[in-house]
Amino acid sequence: MKIIFLGAPGAGKGTQAELVSKKAGIPTISTGVILREAIKDKTPLGIAAKSLIDNGQLVPDEVVIELLTERLSQDDCKNGYILDGFPRTIAQAEALDKMGIAIDKVVNIYVADETIINRLAGRRSCPGCGATYHVVFNPSEDGEHCTGCGAVLTQRDDDKPETIRKRLTVYHELTAPLEQFYEKRGILVTVEGQEELADTTALTMKALELL
Ligand code: AP5
Repeated sequence: MKIIFLGAPGAGKGTQAELVSKKAGIPTISTGVILREAIKDKTPLGIAAKSLIDNGQLVPDEVVIELLTERLSQDDCKNGYILDGFPRTIAQAEALDKMGIAIDKVVNIYVADETIINRLAGRRSCPGCGATYHVVFNPSEDGEHCTGCGAVLTQRDDDKPETIRKRLTVYHELTAPLEQFYEKRGILVTVEGQEELADTTALTMKALELL
């Protein structure tokens, strides 16, 4: 099974991808996570990507396509995977086609822009295992540490209101056209990102016939 999660920044792609990954037994490949690891390790890629990400801009297509190609060649991707945050442009979607990758389903999580800023302001991430929480909607057990691995939770640098607004503009300009791209192929399903996380999860699992 090869699945893409589409949606605005903060729509809940990473959260749902994590749940589907556990249920379906396939890995989540998140280009955002790979880039943040490169930033943390101060690799040449990370150093080049940091200022773009902190300014809410996309990393160049050729860089991300190379990253993804390398990741998909690894053994754990043999039985399928979930793509979270890729493709983000038509050129990236065309790159998947050129690689001969047939996507089964594209889940587009819709959340209104007004809701996004509040969601991202409350997001907390685990630097250890990558789990995502929200201070109100999806808190960890003690609110400060990851329930899974115990690491102290942190806030992402690109979750400042002015950066979120820029990311939303870039999303509408460059990523939203992918909805039509995949709709034409008959594999797009749009899920309303609900107030209650469990409701969004139920809709997502139903869309993927994983209930
Ligand atoms: P990336 O890490 O992919 O960020 P994003 O797409 O902006 O998405 P987010 O991770 O911010 O949000 P999400 O939709 O996963 O939401 P989440 O589940 O965390 O990319 C970061 C940057 O890297 C990009 O801006 C770009 O610069 C670069 N990049 C990455 N990929 C690239 C590519 N392919 N090409 C070029 N550049 C690339 O949820 C958000 C919060 O809401 C959480 O706190 C969560 O707990 C909460 N929540 C989730 N669902 C619900 C719900 N239903 N109800 C209430 N709260 C909820």
